[in-house]
Amino acid sequence: MKRFMPGDTFESALKAAIDFKAKGVGALFTLLGENITDLADANRVVEHYENVLAESAEVRAEVSVKPTQLGLDIDPEAAYENLRRLARAADNARSFLWVDMEGSAYTERTLDLYKALRSEHPHVGVALQAYLHRTVSDVATLLPLKPAIRLVKGAYAESPEIAFTSKREVDENYLALCASMLPEVRRHNMRLVLATHDTALIAKAWRFGQASSMDRSHFEVAMLYGIRTDEQVRLAREGFTVKDLIAYGDAWYAWYLRRLAERPANMWFVARQLLP
Ligand code: FDA
Repeated sequence: MKRFMPGDTFESALKAAIDFKAKGVGALFTLLGENITDLADANRVVEHYENVLAESAEVRAEVSVKPTQLGLDIDPEAAYENLRRLARAADNARSFLWVDMEGSAYTERTLDLYKALRSEHPHVGVALQAYLHRTVSDVATLLPLKPAIRLVKGAYAESPEIAFTSKREVDENYLALCASMLPEVRRHNMRLVLATHDTALIAKAWRFGQASSMDRSHFEVAMLYGIRTDEQVRLAREGFTVKDLIAYGDAWYAWYLRRLAERPANMWFVARQLLP
């Protein structure tokens, strides 16, 4: 697990964020966990993030949370109230709240939550997945709200009816979405974060940023802890805004499996750990 997490505790994540800050890379914290079945657990998650936001002023970190970790499977209204509490805490800490995007069963409901939240709070963003066919129209619906969008390729197993399945198609759609949104960043003062380790794709997207006379510091990139750290530091040195998403907590199993599935070589990494 050390490959993708500095440790189980928030303290280990904070320590990693302090180290990253010294290298010019910001932090995004996420407490692992999803599909909770008891609203009392969701309340504990909210309290945890309220403390995190209050305690991480030093590193000016942002937080990222899954709707099903806040009770979306049990009671959408309770999940919304939990998001509102977190958005208020993020405002008070002059931070930013990101809403993760989970599997396609949750896309519509997550976007509904986000639209309502964005109408009340300026400092909230949502992840969109380039592998979904619907994302292009979701972007069109969101743009008038001046959203903050974290564009990812997508980490869940989705059917070919609703998602691009080849890397080529996903990458093409990712770039097309960047091309449509990057000019809006400057024009409408919105945030777009390219959350990918695909540095070739980032370089191509930057050409669209340059074409719209974008300042490097407004071109935002985010990567996961433990993946392409050297590239994170390089991009930050070059003047781009870079954040490292630092996950922690003991509910790591589903998350870890998604990381392994993204890159077959990671399976060998795990196998090597198990060998004498
Ligand atoms: P791609 O898989 O094409 O990889 C490009 C290159 O990066 C690879 O060739 C390899 O070198 C390296 N790489 C990628 N993944 C690696 C890994 N696990 N281990 C080692 N090397 C790796 N998804 C989602 O559905 N909802 C969400 O809310 C989020 N949130 C999110 C936030 C942030 C900050 C990031 C970086 C990613 C997410 N994701 C996500 C995950 C995302 O959808 C996607 O699964 C991963 O980022 C892997 O895809 P890449 O974009 O890196 O491209």
